[in-house]
Amino acid sequence: MSSSHEVDSASSLPTGLRLWPSKRYAEMHRRSLEDPERFWSEEARKLDWYKTWDRVLDWTPPYARWFVGGKLNACYQCVDRHVKTWRRSKVAIYWEGETGETRVLSYSTLFREVNRCASVLQKLGVKKGDRIALYLPMIPELPLFMLACARIGAVHTVIFSGFSAQAMCDRIFDTQAKVIITADGGYRRGKIVALKDIADEAARLCPSVEKIIVVKRTGEPVPMTKGRDLWLSSLLDEAEMLVKPEPMESTHPLYILYTSGTTGKPKGVVHSTGGYLVFNNSAYEWVFDIREESVYWCTADVGWVTGHSSIVYAPLSHGAAIVLYEGAPDYPTVDRWWDIVEKYGVSIFYTSPTAVRMFMRYGEEWPLKHDLSSLELLGSVGEPINPEVWQWYYKYIGGERCPIVDTWWQTETGGIMISPTPGIEPIPLKPGSATLPLPGVDAVVVDAEGNEIPPGQTGFLIIRKPWPGLLMDIYGDPQRYQESYWSRFPGSYYTGDFAMRDEDGYFWLLGRADEVLKVAGHRIGTAELEDATISHPAVAEAAVAGKPDPVKGEAIVLFVTLKKGTSPSPDLRKEIAQHLRRVIGPIAAPDAVYFVDSLPKTRSGKIMRRLLKAVVSGQSLGDLTTLEDETSVDEVKKAYESLRKISESAKDN
Ligand code: WTA
Repeated sequence: MSSSHEVDSASSLPTGLRLWPSKRYAEMHRRSLEDPERFWSEEARKLDWYKTWDRVLDWTPPYARWFVGGKLNACYQCVDRHVKTWRRSKVAIYWEGETGETRVLSYSTLFREVNRCASVLQKLGVKKGDRIALYLPMIPELPLFMLACARIGAVHTVIFSGFSAQAMCDRIFDTQAKVIITADGGYRRGKIVALKDIADEAARLCPSVEKIIVVKRTGEPVPMTKGRDLWLSSLLDEAEMLVKPEPMESTHPLYILYTSGTTGKPKGVVHSTGGYLVFNNSAYEWVFDIREESVYWCTADVGWVTGHSSIVYAPLSHGAAIVLYEGAPDYPTVDRWWDIVEKYGVSIFYTSPTAVRMFMRYGEEWPLKHDLSSLELLGSVGEPINPEVWQWYYKYIGGERCPIVDTWWQTETGGIMISPTPGIEPIPLKPGSATLPLPGVDAVVVDAEGNEIPPGQTGFLIIRKPWPGLLMDIYGDPQRYQESYWSRFPGSYYTGDFAMRDEDGYFWLLGRADEVLKVAGHRIGTAELEDATISHPAVAEAAVAGKPDPVKGEAIVLFVTLKKGTSPSPDLRKEIAQHLRRVIGPIAAPDAVYFVDSLPKTRSGKIMRRLLKAVVSGQSLGDLTTLEDETSVDEVKKAYESLRKISESAKDN
């Protein structure tokens, strides 16, 4: 990678296309859109195929099928391919537990372990196409079992280990998974999270579950149900050493990952094998300039899409060494992460703006205590990064040496869509902008009618052409797939994000345009939170609004009406907050719960969300009144004032 990158401040930029001089990038992007099939078939040849494809793309809107007729195996790409080369003795995974123990897995160890885990699954009768739920802490067994599933053609669905039993059950129920793989616990901030208890409760609610495999992590005693629950260590004793990777159709699902949408039920995003791998393999070359010697650390949890692509499939497909860390970022001291960067010589570091904001609050003295000179490139993902935070990250973590790739993408896009691509050619960076679309990505900003809008105006971000990482479907709900992504702007993929493109063609991502919150980078639907809230016996109605938060980006604020005969009280407020943690998990804990007599609604009964948002953001009503066309200006103002008073007085309590 060239170290020559320029940082430009948005305000000082002249207009025009001065910043589009990157000839290699521009040429590649143009070529990729002019002849996508040729472009992507060249990229696909970077992977090993059992059988090459008959057709690069079948595009029957809204379904894109890539490398049709081709056969490959994702585990083979990430493991076997490397053990056939000198990389067999190279580090694949540096693992560090929160409690300080470490495990280092070479590619040949990874190969051996993956084979044994695949054999364990096979011996339990798991077959190609079966869904397997993984509910594990950030320990090597998590990527091991993802790869083991891929090896035999089983479809994994990883459930974030911070989700509670109900949220877990919703996901398992939808996939009808037969096996859960969990652990006797995991460490978080010095405490043990009782994953097995939660898995037991979820299994009680989900009759599809036949077996629970338990990994020993903490050594805490856990109840084991005879005939259903099995220790991994005993199963491994019986396991075969080699399991042939199954040649999978390119269009066979690799995994299902649930994410929040605008209704209460999470969406099971289905990703393909061939398209997903090709897209991610190429993207990591372009965005991170990932190389043999890279030590790559993505701090996300594997339970989110970032972990799937950026911890497991993309870096391992490149034969890079990855760092996997189990615990909390600031535990036991707030320089834990910087200690890890120094210890393993991390060269590429990829994290969320929320984490950077948190470290910025702790102060630069913490990273300054460490030698971070191994770092070459920094990444940001999950939410917009504010320019001041970008500058801090650049200065104190990157030593004013490392470019920052601000990467915009989604669970549904499978991989990075908009980002600088220093692996192709460095371009001037603008703090706060994700810059330009990757080759093959036809991103534009449009108005409500779908017309492209002039630079500087805010609109909706859409993608006009299919790309190989595009989700295949919503599991079991094709109608929702069509409605969520393809009906708002027919023929184009609707991202649900607001964006602005500047005079230089750079994209500025401005947050969600739909009812989805981003709390500490985690995607949570307001409807999911509202459904969980009204399942509390005292609650009649609930509405959620996202309040701007200096660290988390957005915080959850709940407006609640109570059932007749129930009186508001501080205890009830606490109980409702607890209830949300119980039903969804700690990420759903609200920052504030406001009791109101009624929720502000339009005459047709829709909650006035923009009004709630204005109240919690402390914004004036502005031209909001025109947006709620069904309701009189006076009514909106009245509702606004009364809610504002309630939220103000709650602050004093
Ligand atoms: C937001 C995470 C601004 C966006 C990979 C998107 C971002 C949602 C960025 C997807 C970024 C992600 N700048 N916003 N660099 N990256 N987002 O599915 O609103 O958890 O729609 O995928 O995160 O969240 P998801």
